[in-house]
Amino acid sequence: MKMKHLIYCLGILVLVLTYACSSSSTDDVSDPDPDPDPTGKLTYDDDVKSIISNNCIGCHGATPTNGAPFSLTTYDSVKDRINGIIGRINNASSPMPPSGLMAQGLRDDIQQWKDDGLLEN
Ligand code: HEC
Repeated sequence: MKMKHLIYCLGILVLVLTYACSSSSTDDVSDPDPDPDPTGKLTYDDDVKSIISNNCIGCHGATPTNGAPFSLTTYDSVKDRINGIIGRINNASSPMPPSGLMAQGLRDDIQQWKDDGLLEN
């Protein structure tokens, strides 16, 4: 009688665990919240800021240097000048940075950011 009782309890435990596991895996598929960037779109914070920091801020810093005409340290300053920026980063005869064209992938990312709607984050 006692043994039967134990087996009965184990049976219930297995059922509960099976239900808990299967229901949580369905949640993972249907719930987009754990994905920090659910839209897949490029954003200033995630994608553009680091490209500008690595390639432009040496001259277009908070206080521009080396004759650069403006700062590119904020989201607004980059967004407001996006057309000029895309023109110059792809201009082989007058590139920005002046040392030469950046890798195609980086230039594509800035174009894609514009196409995605110039999102901040
Ligand atoms: C070595 C310094 C230096 C770096 C690095 C640099 N710039 Fe410049 N930038 C300048 C100078 C100097 C000018 C002004 C002369 C000119 O237009 O060529 C300028 C001009 C510009 C202009 C045109 C301004 C206008 O209204 O005509 C844009 C747009 C620009 N930079 C964007 C960028 C971007 C984006 C980066 C990084 C990918 C970058 N620059 C990196 C020095 C720099």
